[in-house]
Amino acid sequence: MKKITIAIDGPASSGKSTIAKEVAQRLGIAYIDTGAMYRGITLALIEQNIPFADVNQIVALMNQIKMEFKIIEGSQHLFIEGEDVSKKIRSVEVTENVSEVAAIPEVRQHLVSLQQRMAEASSVVMDGRDIGTVVLPNAPYKFFFTASPQVRALRRYKENMAKGLTSQSLDEIEAAIIERDRYDSTREHSPLRKADDAILIDTSDLTIDEIVTNIIQYVEK
Ligand code: CDP
Repeated sequence: MKKITIAIDGPASSGKSTIAKEVAQRLGIAYIDTGAMYRGITLALIEQNIPFADVNQIVALMNQIKMEFKIIEGSQHLFIEGEDVSKKIRSVEVTENVSEVAAIPEVRQHLVSLQQRMAEASSVVMDGRDIGTVVLPNAPYKFFFTASPQVRALRRYKENMAKGLTSQSLDEIEAAIIERDRYDSTREHSPLRKADDAILIDTSDLTIDEIVTNIIQYVEK
């Protein structure tokens, strides 16, 4: 089979991971959630009480911890030092701090090179903020998702409810999403930005199935 590389970027809760997962499954290729990797580093820094300003300690930690993805019953789980941290990396505390950690150049360098190696090894659907622009600039298939902040906040609210995370109101979630997008779009290093050659998809009024089918048709064409 020919190697397939698909890059998907977009702001928080724009539908990237749901769509990327489904596309990967239908094509029988790997899905790589780069946001989970930034969340994993953030969690490790919080748990080990390492200040976000201490770049030397952060680099030492990244060089030393073992972070790996495993597929369990069809869904992707992140393991750090053998512990399944998939739930912990979605906590409000990690979500509130991840953008600050993701803006540290040394963190980006480390994770981008890991991501590039993962995409070299096999066909992938990779989602994040800088995949089409920085991680895989030569990917033949690039998509950029958008959706209104209201739609995105409601999606995250429902996701949180389903997971039993009920501490934040819809308004609080919307405010947090807007703030994280602002931070991600204005940071100095590889900000969230649509690659010039990426296809823009507004997911506000489309169903998951419509988007997935569109992407698959485009890739198989
Ligand atoms: O799932 P959600 O939309 O909440 O975000 P995520 O994909 O888990 O990403 C969490 C955070 O990681 C983002 O807000 C960015 O600050 C950062 N990130 C990044 O900088 N570059 C990436 N390729 C992926 C995530």
